[in-house]
Amino acid sequence: MSNILYFETLDSTQTYLKQHFNELNDKTVVVTEEQTAGRGRFDRQWVSQPGGLYFSILLKPQKTDFLANLTQLLALCVCQAAEKYAIQPNLKWPNDVQVAGKKLCGILSEAITQGDKIAGLVIGAGVNIAQKDLSKVGQPAVSLRELGVNIDKQDFLQTVLDLFFDSYRAVLAEGFSVIRPAYKERFPFLGKQIAVKNGTAAVTGIAQDLSPEGTLLLHTQRGAQEILIGDLIV
Ligand code: BTN
Repeated sequence: MSNILYFETLDSTQTYLKQHFNELNDKTVVVTEEQTAGRGRFDRQWVSQPGGLYFSILLKPQKTDFLANLTQLLALCVCQAAEKYAIQPNLKWPNDVQVAGKKLCGILSEAITQGDKIAGLVIGAGVNIAQKDLSKVGQPAVSLRELGVNIDKQDFLQTVLDLFFDSYRAVLAEGFSVIRPAYKERFPFLGKQIAVKNGTAAVTGIAQDLSPEGTLLLHTQRGAQEILIGDLIV
């Protein structure tokens, strides 16, 4: 199984694994109580106060065709782990976990390249568990504690990792189709009008489906459009 390294404080668990990529084994997990320079998607800051769960997983797979889908797998696993505590989170494509429109977890994945080869992937998650003050995170957010769930962070992490590594090989081999039914069950936006923002550009339309590759299929005024990446705005 995975080797877990614990820290009191780090700049970022992502940065740590990227800096130590060569000397660490496949499936090493790094966890910290707080981050001083936590990073989010699209170069955003990830405010990482004590009380949250901040971890990253180092992966060195042989086959790299479906790396992007591992990020969606981790989001699904966080969602399923939270469901064990009788709450009903949902997925906000591609990899946010939210409860009633407020963010519970964000996920960042970064490929490691060596020469022209993908040598691995670092996937990190920030889960709002029991921070004192979520007002500084810059977006509507909710913690498990605010939802009445008081849990041991290490137990929660172990549940997420068990779920993740249960499906890891299958997703690496076959991609999103392995988790598509479970993901779609937790994706409440199908048939709804949504917007997807990528940088400054936004595309608006009705969410038609999630493709077998994990992309978002939108019906826009100009016809069908396949969205590969972006931030969903609802
Ligand atoms: C996002 O929603 O923008 C993604 C946020 C990812 C945050 C996690 S916390 C652990 C890991 N270390 C980081 O610096 N970022 C990720």
